[in-house]
Amino acid sequence: MKIESKKGKEEWLVMLGVCTHLGCVPLKDKGDFNGWFCPCHGSHYDVSGRIRKGPAPTNMEIPKFEFVDSNTIKIG
Ligand code: FES
Repeated sequence: MKIESKKGKEEWLVMLGVCTHLGCVPLKDKGDFNGWFCPCHGSHYDVSGRIRKGPAPTNMEIPKFEFVDSNTIKIG
């Protein structure tokens, strides 16, 4: 997905949108860090998916990916 960076530019975010606690789907632009919030048990992630608060043990996973060209990302 595309997200707006701190500089106001749109940039790509490649991440598995699955909470690392028990696998729920976090909500975007929510939580104490205005990133991702998991409503199941209250984990808070920053906009890059780094865990900041709550029971999730690790950051959300970043899969292996590469830009094939300016409009195509190969994931996996
Ligand atoms: S599944 Fe996300 S906090 Fe438990």
